[in-house]
Amino acid sequence: MISLDNVSIRYGAIEVVKPLSLEIASGEFFTLLGPSGCGKTTILRAIAGFVPVAEGRILIADRDVTDLPAEKRDVGIVFQNYALFPHMTVRENVAFGLRVARRSKAQIAADVDKILDVTGIAAHGDKKPAALSGGQQQRVAIARSLVMGTRVLLFDEPLSNLDAKIRDDMRREIKALQRELGFTAVFVTHDQEEALSMSDRLLVFNAGQVEQIGTARQLYESPATPFVCQFVGSANLLGPVLSARLGVNGQGYLRPEHIRIVPNDAPDALDAQVEDVDYVGPLTRVYLRVAGEAIQLQAFSSAAIADLAPGQSVSLQIDRDRINLFGVAA
Ligand SMILES: Nc1ncnc2c1ncn2[C@@H]1O[C@H](COP(=O)(O)OP(=O)(O)O)[C@@H](O)[C@H]1O
Ligand SMILES: [Mg+2]
Repeated sequence: MISLDNVSIRYGAIEVVKPLSLEIASGEFFTLLGPSGCGKTTILRAIAGFVPVAEGRILIADRDVTDLPAEKRDVGIVFQNYALFPHMTVRENVAFGLRVARRSKAQIAADVDKILDVTGIAAHGDKKPAALSGGQQQRVAIARSLVMGTRVLLFDEPLSNLDAKIRDDMRREIKALQRELGFTAVFVTHDQEEALSMSDRLLVFNAGQVEQIGTARQLYESPATPFVCQFVGSANLLGPVLSARLGVNGQGYLRPEHIRIVPNDAPDALDAQVEDVDYVGPLTRVYLRVAGEAIQLQAFSSAAIADLAPGQSVSLQIDRDRINLFGVAA
């Protein structure tokens, strides 16, 4: 549905996006994930046609759109504030693009009815945006693009300013609509949990370059680079003492859930001291030291773990086969 073929993007002399090639399938929920300033919005704006590419080609639905202006690309953008017209009703907001395109009154009425229906906001057609919940406003914003026949929707961090609870509901709303209506979604976020939970596939982007493209599980369970390992989820970088004790040759990263507290006579147990304990409801994080090296453990909360006290000595067991190894000569 969307192809980027060796696309690079510059602002002046600075190459903000290094040559990038990418295929996004029709109906896919594809996410660009990366830290603030890495170039995610720039890629989205290039797909939409608001930023020219320095080199390479962009294809949408097999059509080379590289040199087309934004309004001819047939992509919709859902902005963070939804950018609805406050003085217009829902129906007028959704009809606006069709009016500009000079469709007939009858055609506009039919198309708007249909899209309000499929996006689940038919009951709110005569309300102004201010009378709607955030989720309903989001549906209007999506309806406004889909009514134009657009099959590609771009989302630039639409949920980043929301409270955690509302954000969770809105994620599920976007996903449900996308699955039901089958449009192709390119979603930008810096929030790894949001990215993992919503996407069919993700691209992890850092400093203008691709770190890895894959499913949530591929990224989390088989990170291609130390950056992915630490940005998607969290990971302990094993220090020299732990590496030596575990026979690790290279940069070893270990996720906190692959460390357990065990009885001190367990095989291969490592002696550790508790530094701090963070109880966060279902999970507890324990900050430990092994021979002076910091290591973090995470487990489902139980009295045995949540009641650990700073200064206490414990024994640890590490799942060696879950260590992600980088920088080892083949
Ligand atoms: N219009 C612009 N002119 C010059 N530099 C820009 C412009 N927009 C963004 N940048 C720079 O490009 C880089 C990538 O920005 P952006 O794509 O907005 O990152 P992200 O969306 O991942 O936070 C940043 O270093 C940013 O400062
Ligand atoms: Mg951005």
